[in-house]
Amino acid sequence: MAKILVTGGTGYIGSHTVVELLEDGMEVVIVDNLSNSEREVVNGITSITGKEPHFEEVDLRERNATYGVFEKHPDISAIIHFAAFKAVGESVEKPLEYYENNLLSLIHLLEAMKKFSVNHLVFSSSCTVYGEPDELPVTEKAPIKNAGSPYGNTKQICEDILQDTMRSIKGKGVISLRYFNPIGAHPSAKIGELPLGVPNNLVPFITQTAAGIRECLSVFGDDYNTPDGSAIRDYINVVDLAKAHVTAIRRLLNQKQKSNFEVFNLGTGRGLSVLEIIHAFEKSTGQKLNYKVVERREGDIEKVYADTAYANSELGWRAEKGIEETLQSAWKWEMNIRSKNNRT
Ligand code: NAD
Ligand code: WQD
Repeated sequence: MAKILVTGGTGYIGSHTVVELLEDGMEVVIVDNLSNSEREVVNGITSITGKEPHFEEVDLRERNATYGVFEKHPDISAIIHFAAFKAVGESVEKPLEYYENNLLSLIHLLEAMKKFSVNHLVFSSSCTVYGEPDELPVTEKAPIKNAGSPYGNTKQICEDILQDTMRSIKGKGVISLRYFNPIGAHPSAKIGELPLGVPNNLVPFITQTAAGIRECLSVFGDDYNTPDGSAIRDYINVVDLAKAHVTAIRRLLNQKQKSNFEVFNLGTGRGLSVLEIIHAFEKSTGQKLNYKVVERREGDIEKVYADTAYANSELGWRAEKGIEETLQSAWKWEMNIRSKNNRT
């Protein structure tokens, strides 16, 4: 049974991926410092799968502690590296914390891969590396644009570090997965996204507004060059996204890579506007949303959605869940955490 190290495995995308790995018969070691997640998530994972992942509370900024995980688990065959800080706005306020956390964590893992002879790594990248693309849908060959934020820049630098390292370490392989906009939750509602404070992302803001925690959703701009004037994104169900990681791990373990650094877009291939998301949420949940149109948000791009042809044909993966099912899962999760935490 392959043993997979999942960094950031109690986080939003990591926890859903751990579920899919366990359900696929793999053994999982989670490494997380709980800076943006809770230990309780491991119980949710265990309750869904009936299997318990190993959990190591370790900060990847600490090299020796990171090495300690590999000493304790000498049979790790591959790594999925989710652990990072991810808030775009916060990264502008605290750039050094973002560079330190996101770059140092990756460097320590790459050092450990060399030292402990681990050959495979899947990296969490982002469509943010494309900026405002010249052509849509955006393919993996689209040029990397100037990062709009320190966060976005860490993803670009990490991809550069990975590419350079793969040139120098023969026999190892990396797959970088560029996520578009992950949303929704596990259908069991036992795990999901846990935004701290006021959410920056659209869907958590929608569910919190419908739940009465926020008064009104602000739609950032209706004067974009899009059919209804609001901005367009490619929203991908987090369970579909998680499954792509299992496929990527299998590709690495079965040595099916075409080169030792590969990149795949993970999206649905379909662009939806903010207003379309609002209407789909209302239709699929029966909840009326209080919203108003305000000014554009600084730094936002007009439209981006993925060309998924390469991921479909070469990785053998495609997104399966529709937007209404996905928004329903986000709503079910919101209801669940609200009843648990008694949030108002
Ligand atoms: P998340 O914050 O829910 O999960 C990240 C996890 O990493 C958290 O549990 C956190 O505690 C942990 N972590 C952070 N720094 C760590 C460190 N130094 N040592 C150990 N653990 C640490 O975020 P997420 O939404 O699940 O994102 C996962 C990855 O996907 C990130 O790399 C993110 O940049 C990337 N990504 C996310 C999105 C998105 O919209 N959610 C989009 C594109 C890419
Ligand atoms: C989606 C759309 C907003 C909130 C971010 C990161 C990106 C990636 C994914 C990590 C936009 C609009 C939002 C609100 C709104 N993360 N919106 N009212 O900005 O596409 O991408 O998450 O890699 O790097 O930048 O996602 O969910 O914030 O916004 O109208 O209250 O919803 O303007 O058009 P975004 P988002």
